[in-house]
Amino acid sequence: MSITAENLVWRIGSKTIVDGVSFSAEPGRMVGLLGPNGSGKTSLLRLLTGLKRPQSGRVLLDGNELSSLGARAVARRVAFVEQHATTSANLRISDIVRLGRFPHRSWLSRWTRADDRAVDEALLRAGLQDRRGDRWQSLSGGEKQRTHIARALAQTPTELVLDEPTNHLDIQHQIGVLKLVASLPITSVVALHDLNHAAMFCDAVIVMQQGKIVASGAPDAVITEALLRDVFSVEARVETSPHHLRPHIHYLR
Ligand SMILES: Nc1ncnc2c1ncn2[C@@H]1O[C@H](COP(=O)(O)OP(=O)(O)OP(=O)(O)O)[C@@H](O)[C@H]1O
Ligand SMILES: [Mg+2]
Repeated sequence: MSITAENLVWRIGSKTIVDGVSFSAEPGRMVGLLGPNGSGKTSLLRLLTGLKRPQSGRVLLDGNELSSLGARAVARRVAFVEQHATTSANLRISDIVRLGRFPHRSWLSRWTRADDRAVDEALLRAGLQDRRGDRWQSLSGGEKQRTHIARALAQTPTELVLDEPTNHLDIQHQIGVLKLVASLPITSVVALHDLNHAAMFCDAVIVMQQGKIVASGAPDAVITEALLRDVFSVEARVETSPHHLRPHIHYLR
């Protein structure tokens, strides 16, 4: 078991935002987190990565409670790309990606060839190898997004958590990022709004509504016309694509 959530509850005031969520992501799998706006996806991802503490329930990494591991130990294995990731300083792409190595280094340890290799590999995978000297403020929204993905990859995580990573990306880069995540030999949990992309690339999907998981399992078992109507309030036809044998949604107008 790579990452497990047990009965997570997170409240703000009297409002329960994450309401008794339990699931497990198997090692190496790509799990899609789906659900309408405000259903609690980002809040759940922040609990999974230790940025927020649940009022009750727990998160386990290979059976170890997240809250018992130090922040640095968590950062050595879990990388998180947030929904509205930003960087205030006008750093170069390569400097931002190098920040991903921080949890692996002790105070006075020198930059190593292994650090360089991790950064080069991450830049290559994110398609930024020729842009490493460019400054943050000069990047397009999609390039910024890919820079944050590269920083997360440079962290060489065993769990990668991505909140709407295809936001801002053109279609080539949307498909590129999802293909990349699907091909990585690590566990990933990815919040996505494009249900067809989730169906194409994820090994399993979890659907949230009002803070609760209302469906989970293989994409073809979960992404159904009834679910689209009940959870997403849209009429659609779902068929199995002859190209990738995954569900394909035709939205009706
Ligand atoms: N810090 C906060 N204070 C108050 N309410 C919050 C806070 N964080 C989240 N919420 C509320 O919790 C609910 C779930 O928010 P969350 O961002 O987790 O949803 P989401 O599924 O990620 O939505 P989206 O698809 O729009 O990104 C929303 O109603 C939101 O307003
Ligand atoms: Mg969100």
